[in-house]
Order: sequence, then structure tokens, then C-alpha cells
Amino acid sequence: MLHAAFAAALEQLPRHFERHGYDRSGTAELREAVAHWYERRGLPTPPDHILITNGAQHALALLARTLVSPRDKVLIDHPTYPHAISTFTAARARLLPVAVAPSGWDTAQLQAAGRIASLAYLIPDFHNPTGLCMPASVRQSLRLACPTVIDETMTDLALDTASPEPFAMHMPTAISIGSVSKSIWGGLRIGWIRATPSLLERVQQTRYATDLGTPVVEQLATAVLLNEGRTQRPGALQQLRSQRDTLRQALTEHLPHVHAPQPAGGLTLWATFPQPISSRLAAIAPDHGVSIAAGPRFGIGGAFERNIRLPYTLPPSQLTQAIRGLAQAEQALTRGATGAHGPAPVA
Ligand SMILES: Cc1ncc(COP(=O)(O)O)c(C=O)c1O
Repeated sequence: MLHAAFAAALEQLPRHFERHGYDRSGTAELREAVAHWYERRGLPTPPDHILITNGAQHALALLARTLVSPRDKVLIDHPTYPHAISTFTAARARLLPVAVAPSGWDTAQLQAAGRIASLAYLIPDFHNPTGLCMPASVRQSLRLACPTVIDETMTDLALDTASPEPFAMHMPTAISIGSVSKSIWGGLRIGWIRATPSLLERVQQTRYATDLGTPVVEQLATAVLLNEGRTQRPGALQQLRSQRDTLRQALTEHLPHVHAPQPAGGLTLWATFPQPISSRLAAIAPDHGVSIAAGPRFGIGGAFERNIRLPYTLPPSQLTQAIRGLAQAEQALTRGATGAHGPAPVA
């Protein structure tokens, strides 16, 4: 699939040689393909409302640099995506966590926090790390008083439900960010921002300080893949379902006291241990062949010591082996062992 897309991209490349190749907003081909991707999902989108970035993390970093000043309050889901925490911390923002409970998002709490925040950052589609999907009723009623960044990186990973509608259908002022990293391949490093042309112009001005555009061949190949509808591949989704089932089965067998609800999509289980052992478990797990991210990485103030995030992105046999290793690590912890390794990297 990638080979064919890059072959098609190379065929198209010569028409870009007339220009210098620094494309501050993205190639016309990819901006149109992303706009069509929103349109197919029910949200009319002119291509000039799309800015191409080097992945969703880049999109978020650019938005933080454009919209956040030191000491601004930024509303975040709690738990949330760890690199979003790093981005807002680097922008010297004060984080305003609003709980994403096992039952989901609380509209009243979000709206109250939105009244005192300068920016909100939410992951309503198969939330990282919990896998939860914000119900349509909450999307329809949520009114936030501050500018709101909606991270839709996981939107195409619907496993037991239809893909959610684009959030901006309910909140037209939403600044949406997207990516093909999870739905196609992270190595493409292609993402985008969907926003008004005036905000995108401000983002482009900010961008000059660190980078001058996204590689053209990758953009052309991604446009081919989006136009072919490759972000939702039944085979890939079926593989994820079966990996998720294997992981849950292995938990039932080897760690029956761990609670891990089944998410309707995304890539991860958010597991809860009866005891607050997450950081110690993550420190010792590499001695048993497993590298995991401890719960506190996904929050602030030392929260989530009972949680770990378990991605089901490995082949089934490795997932089972990993849970066996985790169970051994927990037993070793009970016997008083401590780990020799540092924290695991988070993707
Ligand atoms: C919620 C969320 N946003 C953004 C990203 C980063 O995506 P990208 O690879 O497109 O930079 C990730 C990657 O794990 C993610 O889970």
C-alpha cells in the first residue's frame, strides 16, 4: 500500500519542481484530500481551512506556541496524552485537569473549567489512554467559553462502533487536529490543523521559528492514501480487535485482580490495579521483559498510581508474553524487588 502510494507520489513530483519546495501550509493535493476526508464524514471543509503539519504532535506544539502565553490556564482531560502535558508545560501554562472518569466526561465540570481557561485540549475520539469515546449527547451539549483544540488522531480506529462524527460539526469554532499516524503509519509524519484561515495564518508565522514546511513526497503519498480511503482498513481493524481480545484474555488469566474495561476503539486499555504500584511496577517490569508507561505519566500531581496503559499494538503471542512478564513483575514487587531501569518511553 505504501509502496504504491509513494510510486504514485514520485510520478506527480515533477509538477512541484517549478517551485522551491518550501510549502508553508502544505501541498494543494494533500489539503484537498484532507478537506474531502472531512467532507466524506459530513463536515464541509474548504482546503484553505487545512494546514499540513509533521504529525499531530507538531500541530499541537504549533497551536500551543500560537495560542498559549506563560501562566495561561489550559484545560486538559485527566488522564491525557503525556506529550500534550509536555507541550503545555513547555509553553509554561498552568494545567487545569478535568477528570475523564470511567463513566466519561462531565459536561458541567468541563464548562466551569472552560470559563477560567485560556485554551482547552480534549481527545474525545477513543481517548488516549482510556480508549473512551465521548457520547453524542455530550458533544451536542458541550459549550466551552475558551478556544478548544480537539485531537482526533484516533478517530479512524473505531472497533465496535461507527467512527464518531467530526467534533466541529457540533462545535463549529473547534480547532481540530488530525493525523495518519495511527490509521496508516506513524513514519509518514503527516498531520494537520483544521481551523479558520486567519488562525492558520498566525500558526504559519509561528512555524517559521522552527521549521519551513512538510516534505512534499510524503504529502503526495498521503494524499493518494486518503483519497483511496486507506485510513479505515477492515483487515487492520480486525487485527486490532483480535489483539485487544488477546490482551484482555491474558489479563483475565494472569492478572485477574486488574480491572481493564473494553474500549470501543483506539489502541490502549487503561488498567487499574487494586494497589498504587504503577511507578514501581513500570520500574521493575523491564527486568521481566516488559516496557510500560506508568499511570502518573498521563496526569499531573502524581495522580493515577493505580493505573497503567496497556497498548494492544503487538502481535497476540507477544501480548500474552508481556502480560505474563507483568504478572511476574508484580509478584517480584510483592517480594520487595526494585527496578534497575528508567521509565519507558511513551508514544
Ligand atoms: C492523542 C494523540 N495525539 C497525538 C499523537 C501524536 O501523533 P503524531 O504521530 O501524528 O504526531 C498521539 C500519538 O500517540 C496521540 O495518541
